[in-house]
Amino acid sequence: MSKIISVHSFRGGTGKSNTTANLAAVLAMHGQRVGVIDTDIQSPGIHILFGLRGDEINTSLNDYLWHGKEIQEVAHDVTPANVAGKIFLIPSSTKPGEITRVLREGYDAQRLTRGLRQLLDALQLDTLIIDTHPGLNEETLLSLVISHTLVIVMRPDQQDYEGTGITVQVAKELQVPRLLLVVNNMPLVFDANAVAEQVAKTYDCPVAAVLPHSEEMMNLASAGIFAVRYPDHPLTALYQKIAAQLNT
Ligand SMILES: Nc1ncnc2c1ncn2[C@@H]1O[C@H](COP(=O)(O)OP(=O)(O)OP(=O)(O)O)[C@@H](O)[C@H]1O
Ligand SMILES: [Mg+2]
Repeated sequence: MSKIISVHSFRGGTGKSNTTANLAAVLAMHGQRVGVIDTDIQSPGIHILFGLRGDEINTSLNDYLWHGKEIQEVAHDVTPANVAGKIFLIPSSTKPGEITRVLREGYDAQRLTRGLRQLLDALQLDTLIIDTHPGLNEETLLSLVISHTLVIVMRPDQQDYEGTGITVQVAKELQVPRLLLVVNNMPLVFDANAVAEQVAKTYDCPVAAVLPHSEEMMNLASAGIFAVRYPDHPLTALYQKIAAQLNT
């Protein structure tokens, strides 16, 4: 059965887009057909990780939301070389006029959720991963409602701790079938097992993995997908561990 997964965080910059891209990559490495959609329409960015520049995006989610295109028509095949499966990216437009239109007029959030379901069928996806805008807004809530799993990415930071509590509470109220926490960018001096235990207890929610701060990831600086660049790195093994939990 195909699955919809939302990757979210209450605060920005926690590592959602990198987590999304790496989970997509490891699932595709196992032969899956994976869709990735950038619903961060106000500040899109995940296309960069897949090697697309904003000015190279000729069709985007915006064309589906406002200009009558079918959603599968705006999917870009971004499958990296030597990957067995497929990755299709539905990017958001980086054109200033298209972004300000979202801020000025909003959009039909119901049309977005219909489009997500349509994508699963049209592209015969095994998994669709939604990279979201941080914080809670209408499209986040709608994406949670139709997700099988919500992955909440948080840093071990007091501001993230509080924000994550709010998101977990909302997700539980919306009865999202499965919640998984990912702790990202953990300082190397912390003990990963102790952090996992404490976070799981605080939110009464399973921790899929604790990802350490990685200099290689910093140096990659979103210029590629970590798991593709470093297939044998321990951080890639942790992305695989999260992906395995998404498949169950
Ligand atoms: N484990 C890690 N170790 C080192 N750097 C990391 C790690 N995870 C993410 N980063 C870096 O943190 C920055 C933010 O990551 P990313 O863009 O994935 O976050 P985001 O949650 O999508 O941000 P936004 O809310 O702005 O969309 C990037 O520069 C990325 O390279
Ligand atoms: Mg992002």
